[in-house]
Amino acid sequence: MGVQRIGLLTSGGDAPGMNAAVRAVVRTAFVNGIEVLGIRRGYNGLIHGDVFEMEHKTVNGLTGRGGTILYTARSPEFATDEGVQRAAKTCKFLGIDAIICVGGDGTFRGARDLSKYNIPAVGIPATIDNDIACTNYTIGFDTACNTAIDAIDKLRDTMQSHERCSLVEVMGRNAGHLAAYVGIAVGANVILVPERPYDFHNDVIEKMRRSRIHGHNHFIVIVAEGVAEKEGDSHQIARNIADEIGLDVRVTILGHIQRGGQPNARDRVTASRMGRHAVEILRDGKINRVIGIQDGVLQDFDIDEALLMEKDLQETMYDTARILSLS
Ligand code: F6P
Repeated sequence: MGVQRIGLLTSGGDAPGMNAAVRAVVRTAFVNGIEVLGIRRGYNGLIHGDVFEMEHKTVNGLTGRGGTILYTARSPEFATDEGVQRAAKTCKFLGIDAIICVGGDGTFRGARDLSKYNIPAVGIPATIDNDIACTNYTIGFDTACNTAIDAIDKLRDTMQSHERCSLVEVMGRNAGHLAAYVGIAVGANVILVPERPYDFHNDVIEKMRRSRIHGHNHFIVIVAEGVAEKEGDSHQIARNIADEIGLDVRVTILGHIQRGGQPNARDRVTASRMGRHAVEILRDGKINRVIGIQDGVLQDFDIDEALLMEKDLQETMYDTARILSLS
């Protein structure tokens, strides 16, 4: 007997497009005669049995809605073996044959832990960080990039008027994909990412001096969250720049605004395709997989292997940013 009842949860930091994935899972399950139980607040809901039946109409109009109707959480309780066992017991009690979890690395580690107690799982990658190694693309990344770009374009207008420097902190504690893409898209003078060490004098100050010689009278510096934390905070980096180069540096921390808003076309479509694929592979008897997309083609990977893979910044991206900013 195949999968009869799926438990569906979103976990970790939310990402625009999660709702579109939820809708796709519910609709594909419906077409295949599979029931879906929505689990609220990620693994917390699984531990505490906070679930509800999802019907075809529960997900009406969801493709374009930001956030996640299932709520999300990072569950410290689920990080313990006792928590995982409790969640597995809830699954058995509720007749959940498999879990589909939408989130990032931490979410998939949770799914892997649960699978050790014979609750199979399939993961759908959704995080604005785009830092899941088995996929070129994670749901939410493009929308987050566009949100940041929109804000920075506005900042550029006022920076140009006042001949100032805008230091913009974008999200990404361990990953600089967002910073690199956004930096290229806005034509930033400097981009600092956690994956690449930098020399403050050569890679920031001298670069800005050179830009000045080439006629720049205002500057955009993009700093990934992880770099800011390492240096103290973004205000400290701004002070260091101001002290060295005598510019009026203003700090903007874009923060959670990057995680909100309506998902764009890419995120709606990717989420819809991945959600469908997740249900169909479970239906066909594949378990403990993470969905990925490579060159536009949907794939799925063994969850243990997916968790061992590593993803670096695309060197060409980083290089493009460097060359175009006259370094
Ligand atoms: O993983 C997505 C992300 O937005 C990271 O870029 C960021 O470091 C983190 O989540 C912030 O998490 P929280 O919303 O829990 O503070």
